[in-house]
Amino acid sequence: MNFYILTLFPDMVMEGLKTSITGRAMETGLIHIETINIRDFTKDRHNHVDDYPYGGGAGMVMQAEPVYLAYQSLCEKLGHKPKVVYMTPQGRIFCQETAKEFAAEEELVLLCGHYEGIDERVLELIVDDYVSIGDFVLTGGELPAMAIVDAVSRLVPGVLNNGESAEIETFHNHLLEYPQYTRPVTFMGKQVPDVLLSGHHKNIENWRLKQSVERTKKYRPDLYQKYLEEGGKQ
Ligand code: ADE
Repeated sequence: MNFYILTLFPDMVMEGLKTSITGRAMETGLIHIETINIRDFTKDRHNHVDDYPYGGGAGMVMQAEPVYLAYQSLCEKLGHKPKVVYMTPQGRIFCQETAKEFAAEEELVLLCGHYEGIDERVLELIVDDYVSIGDFVLTGGELPAMAIVDAVSRLVPGVLNNGESAEIETFHNHLLEYPQYTRPVTFMGKQVPDVLLSGHHKNIENWRLKQSVERTKKYRPDLYQKYLEEGGKQ
């Protein structure tokens, strides 16, 4: 799967994504991540990419031209017009379903804004989808883009070692994941639950489901409601 990230901070994005599992997936060629530095497309002598908002108000706005030229150079490189997703708190909320939807694509182009946003005209021209990672405001779209690349990459076949772990986990069936334990059996006087040491697979499965249901009910009543509506056991 190919990811293209239009950004003013390519190092921030690549430094984060080249580590750990996404880094390994890049090395093995399962995913390809490329950044396009919007600042490279400014015609301004001082490489400015932002300007004051028409109508006044706080902050600066990213200018349309460098964003459009960065997009155009990507179109030329790809030989077609890709679907562009703009990172913005005004977008639809990204969730595991959205990750699955994006993982079905061959490529994903993520546009990161900064300052008070991007000139609306270029958004109208090039953006197909507006996505937010939650109801809070960040200083830019880079962290959301990284979160999305991470969540989508781990759904690409082969990226995770254990083929099962992308499915049997939090949000599967609208349930949060059960608690996990590893060695030692006793830590600061706290024991690993006996059932996990029993080797009895059916009992372990039942215990884990019960834990998942209890956790979801307690911490995410909204998800728990969905779980019940889809016929889940209390
Ligand atoms: N840019 C700033 N805040 C954001 C958010 N919550 N989601 C996506 N992009 C953003």
